[in-house]
Amino acid sequence: MKILGIETSCDETAAAVVEDGRVVLSNAIYSQIARHRPYGGVVPEIATRSHVEKLPGIIEEALETAGETYGSIDALAVTYGPGLASSLLIGFSAAKTLAQRLGKPLVGVNHHEGHLHSVFMKEDAPSDEAVFPMLGLMVSGGDSSLVLMHGAGQYELLGSTIDDAAGEALDKAAAVLNLGYPGGPVIQKTAEGGDPNAIRFPRGLEGSDRGKWIYKYDRNLCFSFSGLKTSLLTHVKNLDHAPEGDELRDICASYQEAVCDALLIRVERVLDRFPVKSFSCAGGVSLNKVLREKLTALSAKKGIALLLSPPPLCTDNAAMIAGVAYEKTRLGLAGEEPSDVNPNLRLADWGQGCTESA
Ligand code: KG4
Repeated sequence: MKILGIETSCDETAAAVVEDGRVVLSNAIYSQIARHRPYGGVVPEIATRSHVEKLPGIIEEALETAGETYGSIDALAVTYGPGLASSLLIGFSAAKTLAQRLGKPLVGVNHHEGHLHSVFMKEDAPSDEAVFPMLGLMVSGGDSSLVLMHGAGQYELLGSTIDDAAGEALDKAAAVLNLGYPGGPVIQKTAEGGDPNAIRFPRGLEGSDRGKWIYKYDRNLCFSFSGLKTSLLTHVKNLDHAPEGDELRDICASYQEAVCDALLIRVERVLDRFPVKSFSCAGGVSLNKVLREKLTALSAKKGIALLLSPPPLCTDNAAMIAGVAYEKTRLGLAGEEPSDVNPNLRLADWGQGCTESA
């Protein structure tokens, strides 16, 4: 089954053709980073206009690279949330129009589920029996979550960020240090050769005597990066000069270490508490070299298999959206075509068998 996926939830205009959920026949992406860079972050108005301008060409490119045509694909998939409302609407309207025009089914997909699913998108991916139950760490520019996957299509949200996402924490740190946008790659690069223990930045939600629960989640499994960000800002203000050279390298290495540790501490807590067969990491921040090394070391220490997204599928892409659509169709969970986008769509909204821990 060949599915044409479309993704426009934020600042990547993407289309892809995927066969049987795992074989990526094409993965066309127009990244708008250069258009947003002067503003230090994503500007929704610019993102929307860019999607309008670029999406038709990106869809054509995805079909052409895959050697497919509108007539030869079996179904369409589109991200309908969460994300920027005006950005989501561009991909959603295009997908809906195409599906109607072609008389083919359209499957609505949750963007976060796409990230979680991306770790399975390789031809040698292990079977469901070998990996479930699995812990998924989803770390993107807009969200950081720990998700317990009991089986295909059965997800339980264990914890999430209560303020910034891990990617956002890196993006904002790069802005404070005048390193540009997006922050994750540039902080990783600048941190090379720096001392990760030079400055002890906070790891979030440590040493607080506030209650055990945040909303309905165990606070020990939730993330907070706002204190870390403030700590960096205070550190830089106290310096009285703009850091450069070794000093800048040390700051970046220490900050990156704190972000990775904050993630690792919570992953290890879940591994100690729940008898999972495997754990995974997906989303833009999962490209980070230090994070990958730390997760790999944790996997060896615990003797629990680790699945990482293939690098081209870490940041936003449409292949992961088509992959989820295939799984949902295979499991009979595709449900009705969504009637509209949902910018606040939660992971628990997307199908049957989803619960949230109480
Ligand atoms: O998954 P993604 O495209 O965003 C959302 O869906 O929200 O990820 C973008 C995020 C940005 O915050 C960017 O700084 C971060 O991923 N990122 C990285 C790296 N490459 C991208 N973070 C850490 N290390 C990297 N190498």
